Amino acid sequence: MAIRYYNIKPWGRSLKEYVRMFNLTPDDLERKILGCGDGSASFNAELTEQGGNITSVDPVYIFSADQIRQRIDKTYNDIIDQTQKNQDKFIWQEIGSIEELGRIRMSAMEKFLKDFAGGVMQNRYMPGELPFLPFSDKEFDLALCSHLLFLYTENLSLEFHLKSIEELCRVSNEVRIFPLLDANADRSPYAEPIIDYLRARNRNVKEIKVAYEFQKGGNTMLRIC
Ligand SMILES: C[S@@+](CC[C@H](N)C(=O)[O-])C[C@H]1O[C@@H](n2cnc3c(N)ncnc32)[C@H](O)[C@@H]1O
Repeated sequence: MAIRYYNIKPWGRSLKEYVRMFNLTPDDLERKILGCGDGSASFNAELTEQGGNITSVDPVYIFSADQIRQRIDKTYNDIIDQTQKNQDKFIWQEIGSIEELGRIRMSAMEKFLKDFAGGVMQNRYMPGELPFLPFSDKEFDLALCSHLLFLYTENLSLEFHLKSIEELCRVSNEVRIFPLLDANADRSPYAEPIIDYLRARNRNVKEIKVAYEFQKGGNTMLRIC
């Protein structure tokens, strides 16, 4: 049975996972970073705690922490259930079991929920959505986008992807996107057309191997300058 998400799910990973998904070096972590589609990841909370300069943008930030928690509670079982039925699409090494996956994700999302209200006051969590972001040109050094573009190939068109990547390039000097796979761990059919499109517009585009692999074969990111 294939994994099928009828909408884009609230879900959250940790700073440790972001560092590995995006090959983030200590120098990278000192740059002015935009996390696009960070949702309920604890990346912003944890990086802020260690002195980083990070803004996250996501449509879900129009809601309160309690409302976001309700959305997580509503979708948690569906994600865990579909992952369980498709265990062969994942590598159960770093994360050893479905139960551990649930614990790790909930722990990251709890950190996010605890940080959210304070982070909104500090403008670290900004409501907004691709393909139009509420930021000025080159406001950021580095934009990261994890588990949104490519992953939701079934939900988001090629045109949306192209516009969104152009928009990320408008607001940031460098853009990194992870993974290049769709929800069923197949390479997104958009990967090659997008790489060709960006190269034709003289963008410097590289697919780079990273140290993170949970979806089988999901161990590369796209870096665009
Ligand atoms: C699967 S979650 C990934 C969260 C986080 N990046 C991570 O890897 O843990 C996808 C997120 O994308 C957000 N999202 C959906 N549509 C979006 C859009 N058009 N622009 C920016 N974010 C969007 C959702 O609200 C959700 O929080």
